[in-house]
Amino acid sequence: MARLLARTCCSKTLSQVPRCPVGLVAARAWSHGPLTAYMPEAITFSRLKDHQDLYKVSVDQGDAFWGALGRSRLTWITPFHSVQDCDLHQGRISWFLGGQLNVAVNCLDRHVHAAPDKVALIWEKDEPGEEVRVTYRELLELTCRLGNTLKRQGVKRGDRVTIYMPPCPLAVASMLACARIGAVHAVVFAGFSAESLADRIRDGKSQWEMMKEDACCEPAVMDSEDMLFLLYTSGSTGKPKGLVHSQAGYLLFAALTHKYVFNYQDRDIFGCVADIGWITGHTYVVYGPLCNGGTTVLFESTPVHPNPGRYWETVERLRINQFYGAPTAIRLLLRYSDEWVKKYDRSSLKVLGSVGEPLNKEAWEWYFRVVGETRCPVVDTWWQTETGGICISPRPSNPGAEILPGMAMRPFFGISPTLLDDKGNVLLENNISGALCISQAWPGMARTIYNDHKRFLETYLTPYPGFFFTGDGAYRTRKGYYQLTGRLDDIINISGHRLGTAEVEDIVNHHVAVAESAVIGYPHEIKGEGAYVFVVLKKDSGYTQETLAAELQELISKKIAKYAAPDYVQVTHRLPKTRSGKIMRRVLRKIVEDKASELGDLTTLDDHEAVQQIIEGHKHLVEGQKSY
Ligand code: PRX
Repeated sequence: MARLLARTCCSKTLSQVPRCPVGLVAARAWSHGPLTAYMPEAITFSRLKDHQDLYKVSVDQGDAFWGALGRSRLTWITPFHSVQDCDLHQGRISWFLGGQLNVAVNCLDRHVHAAPDKVALIWEKDEPGEEVRVTYRELLELTCRLGNTLKRQGVKRGDRVTIYMPPCPLAVASMLACARIGAVHAVVFAGFSAESLADRIRDGKSQWEMMKEDACCEPAVMDSEDMLFLLYTSGSTGKPKGLVHSQAGYLLFAALTHKYVFNYQDRDIFGCVADIGWITGHTYVVYGPLCNGGTTVLFESTPVHPNPGRYWETVERLRINQFYGAPTAIRLLLRYSDEWVKKYDRSSLKVLGSVGEPLNKEAWEWYFRVVGETRCPVVDTWWQTETGGICISPRPSNPGAEILPGMAMRPFFGISPTLLDDKGNVLLENNISGALCISQAWPGMARTIYNDHKRFLETYLTPYPGFFFTGDGAYRTRKGYYQLTGRLDDIINISGHRLGTAEVEDIVNHHVAVAESAVIGYPHEIKGEGAYVFVVLKKDSGYTQETLAAELQELISKKIAKYAAPDYVQVTHRLPKTRSGKIMRRVLRKIVEDKASELGDLTTLDDHEAVQQIIEGHKHLVEGQKSY
């Protein structure tokens, strides 16, 4: 009776959901079916009128919501007995307890049974027109052979396997092979020297030595909370940390966000152009689309090779339905003529996504109007390596939902964003800014930092007890939408790549000529942010600003990656410090933002003259570099 009642109550059509006021940009309504057509599990709940009710249920009755989805969307070897055991105060995060499954079986075998010849991957190589299609059957075989190879090399359940490859089928199969045998993968972004490594692997034909292996590989039986992968990312202090994601919760969250944020349908071709070395590649090139039995593109090139039309030519040739890219690339492309976009047929596109950094209004408008011809909703998705999947986004599957440029808008199902002030008070009102925290655990969140649970607790859970602290600031608009306002810590974001300034300073400070340094992010038109290094030289070092800059750029490219190389290196006699000796980064930040007139209260500063000299030096450096 309860089920029948639920069915009746859920049958209100989505066309009855209020439309946005005139003048605002609305998502197109693709589906006007009942709520249960949108999400069949909605039938579990009675009296749901619309998506807002479904969202409410997902946070108020988390066990019922995630339990229903966990049961229906994943294939289990042993069903779970409890949905969750989470306590953010204690740092305890466990989902789907008692459940056993294999992630590779969920991403491959079950689709091979249903449609073996469906294309799983389209490998878009560097040269246009040379794409390679890999079916689910082929990907399963490749994964199994690789799994057997790994086992023969002595790799066992729980062992960590580092993968260093650009996006290509072998890289995806390597990840899934680890998942199949119960090993933990750690993919390292191949950076710019990836090609040479991949070339050697191809040249040595090591993947064809492997063809001798059996194409069957028994899947390991994994507990829900066993480690699936580690992914290293920059923190505000110390060395990059290996965030740990586990099996069932991550996979479910990846699949669900992929399906609902992008309105992914069965025959769609999903084009996420991120590298698999980043969390975006893990979740939306590999795990989300494959768990959903979709077709996913592996993009191995760049947005400007061989010309600035590359993305849209690829969209036309592969008939991509959802395109998911980074603001830095959009900002770069909008500087070229719109003809590079318009000459290609983009009628296949249904949704345009953006991730990694704020999508400024100019870039949003261009993406929406020129690329999507005002037909495709733009989903500006906010999330992090730590969150496993998208947490705040416009959710275009909700027909009629208002989408505003420049903001991530609304929480995804099960996500409860909360703003707190610097004293730890929860800010309940709208039209307010604060530290962005999440007040309830969700299945996709990272479980710990590899080998350092204490650091996990200190970074994410103790700053605001009982909440997960994201490190970002956010503004909640009058209508309750979320707009990200930037990092609250010393992490900078260069072209969507996260970089801890402490990591760069550590390298700079090891240079023979450097007495001390400070690395600051400054606004960059294309990259979003760039690195700006202030250096105090050792006495009689023999270096000039120019010679030091060249060496530091090379050193940082080599030690971290090319994107981390600073745009500016300014040699100065002193750094501004408080009387207790702390570098006043706030002052340096204002200077590099060209806001020296807003330096504010400098009463705690030990040497006012030093600031004046730095302002002058900054002007010279920037003007000199411009004219050069
Ligand atoms: O500061 C936020 C920014 O990128 C950070 C996460 O970086 P990472 O772990 O490398 O993951 C990037 C891909 C998910 C966040 O803390 N960020 C990410 N997406 C957005 C964003 N800032 C504003 N708007 C976004 N849509």
